[in-house]
Amino acid sequence: MSKICVIGTGYVGLVTGTCFADLGNRVVCLDVDESRISRINDGVMPIYEPGLEQLVEQNVHSGRLTFSTNPQEALANAEFAFIAVGTPSGVDGEADLQYVRSAAESIADNVDHPIVVINKSTVPVGTGDWVTDVIKKRRGGTPLEFSVVSNPEFLREGSAINDFMNPDRVVLGSTNREAANQVAQLYLTLRCPILVTDLRTAEMIKYASNAFLATRVSFINEIANMCEELGADVREVSLGMGYDRRIGHAFLDAGLGWGGSCFPKDVKALAHMAVLHGTHPQLLQAVMEINRNQRRRVIFKLRKALGSLNDKVVGVLGLSFKPNTDDIREAPSLEVIHLLLNEGAIVKAYDPQAMENAKAMFSRITLCENPYEVADGADALVLATEWNEFKQLDFERICQLMRRPLILDGRNLWDANALRGMGFTYYGVGHSTQANGE
Ligand SMILES: NC(=O)c1ccc[n+]([C@@H]2O[C@H](COP(=O)([O-])OP(=O)(O)OC[C@H]3O[C@@H](n4cnc5c(N)ncnc54)[C@H](O)[C@@H]3O)[C@@H](O)[C@H]2O)c1
Repeated sequence: MSKICVIGTGYVGLVTGTCFADLGNRVVCLDVDESRISRINDGVMPIYEPGLEQLVEQNVHSGRLTFSTNPQEALANAEFAFIAVGTPSGVDGEADLQYVRSAAESIADNVDHPIVVINKSTVPVGTGDWVTDVIKKRRGGTPLEFSVVSNPEFLREGSAINDFMNPDRVVLGSTNREAANQVAQLYLTLRCPILVTDLRTAEMIKYASNAFLATRVSFINEIANMCEELGADVREVSLGMGYDRRIGHAFLDAGLGWGGSCFPKDVKALAHMAVLHGTHPQLLQAVMEINRNQRRRVIFKLRKALGSLNDKVVGVLGLSFKPNTDDIREAPSLEVIHLLLNEGAIVKAYDPQAMENAKAMFSRITLCENPYEVADGADALVLATEWNEFKQLDFERICQLMRRPLILDGRNLWDANALRGMGFTYYGVGHSTQANGE
């Protein structure tokens, strides 16, 4: 049993801490947000993540998992301190490291025994060395025996526990091989490949992985836009491509583009790093531009069908950046809604889990109880997130409720022919709007 402190109890920290506790370690999850910690202590999860509540409850009950806002208490006996705080975009697209700095400083202030500091936050290449300097500087003349290991996290919101427990790989980077091996011990029971490398390479692996996945999505979206003009069907193009084992099917679905708390800020931060070090990230720039454009195309399509959007009622189904999460950070829906409001449209919306977060974000849209309330009186319905709940809607009812039966299926979720058969005007992404002679 190892003693672990996880600093930052957000999506990554809460899942990491809970899973390490479940693997038999003694874990304290630390956060500066008192209301977050007191809610967790009352059994209320700060995020929606399938299976998390139960796993937290089990491990709290077993006594292996506790939550605290007191760094001295949380770090008192820790052999490992995982930094899992946010690294949002700064003004220039760079990763803002203020929370990493304060986490490193609280380690420096509260630890007086040997400790391994692990960067789980996604941080720019070179941050591991910088964290070492921050801790040393903060200690002044008082020595502390510590090493910094980079251990980027690859879990996905919506399947975070499974991703943590069954990772494709664990990446560890350090200048101190022994420290990296100690961290490797924590993951041995997961029986997955463990890649041990140097600090900077580990940091780059995380950015390169996210940027590559974003690139695949932007690539297929560029192909989708060509398909619309050329009369091909991108859904079958991606299937046909994906069967090639060199390519594979993942991240090859055309739609409204990538969003969320990671891809946008990480692609931006990687591009920023490149520019700062004198290389020209032209592929990354194009990947971001295609993604922005994918949202704008929703407006172009609606304008084509409805003319001016001023005073038109547009319903949006799905607000979270993907299904099975309540996270709306950089969700495609937000940008689409923003563009719609700029055009003077009246926006109604519904999401199965993200309504609380949406309430805090939007004052100018009507949040509805269900998809039918969204459709009621709408001139168009836009599907932004492909939640399971939206797969089997009562479209006859929706058709009657809408002022104009116009659907823009931003995730290619629905059967275009069936909907057209019911009288809808249907637009998908990357397949002809006048498909099969309809
Ligand atoms: N969310 C994901 O799916 C995901 C996946 C892989 C990697 N990451 C990376 O992991 C990091 C964390 O992401 P997240 O989504 O969990 O962030 P988050 O915003 O959900 O949580 C961060 C938490 O850290 C806390 N915090 C900030 N400063 C602190 C301090 N000094 N001491 C203690 N707590 C502090 C905040 O109060 C907050 O609760 C980011 O770098 C992110 O890029 C996220």
